[in-house]
Amino acid sequence: MERLQKVIANAGITSRRKAEEYIQTGRVSVNGKVVRELGVKVDGNDKVEVDGVPIYKEEPVYYLFYKPRGVISAVSDDKNRKTVVDYFTDVSERIFPIGRLDYDTSGLLLLTNDGDFMNLLTHPKHEVDKVYVAKVKGVATKENLRPLTKGIVIDKKKTAPARYEILSTDFEKGMSVVKLTIHEGRNHQVKKMFESIGLPVRKLMREQYGDLTLAGLRVGQYRPLLKKEINQLRNLAKN
Ligand code: URA
Repeated sequence: MERLQKVIANAGITSRRKAEEYIQTGRVSVNGKVVRELGVKVDGNDKVEVDGVPIYKEEPVYYLFYKPRGVISAVSDDKNRKTVVDYFTDVSERIFPIGRLDYDTSGLLLLTNDGDFMNLLTHPKHEVDKVYVAKVKGVATKENLRPLTKGIVIDKKKTAPARYEILSTDFEKGMSVVKLTIHEGRNHQVKKMFESIGLPVRKLMREQYGDLTLAGLRVGQYRPLLKKEINQLRNLAKN
């Protein structure tokens, strides 16, 4: 017997937390009866439906994607823009992105149908390191970047200390390229961090997630994660 919210998450429909919301808002039925309590347990013989659609357990799948700019990190879009899932034409599982990259950000994005895995990696308590490369307007120096290493207040909350490396500076154009490593995943975090020290981001890409890189992939391409990589991510997130 397993908890209803876990069964829904395992079916790749959504995260366990969202599944709890679905239950509480009356979207879930077991054997034809709407269930709103979270404690209910079900087994393989029970017929579970979400919004009237029966769920079935999918094999978990995990992908590493090189997201292009101009694509949204969602499974659908009300403005009909291209989504990251549109690139996975030969994947039948209901995958969703683990966290987000902005519409105009490119780089490494993980996708899965495993809601627990997504929760593990995106939980604020155990987020893994992410490495970004930002092209910023203004000349980056040790002095103006220092606040990033101390933590700065964005959206009323201090960021965790970040690491940086200045990769290059074009003094004529007044632009720098800076590598930034953070482990949180707040909304527009990198852009807001640079903005708050007076170096607005003009171009942003994520080149690393944990130990994973984009090696071997071109923009718009993806590959399945290896078992070893999945386990490494689980271990990184638990520490
Ligand atoms: N931080 C941002 O500002 N944008 C992203 O897409 C990712 C991190």
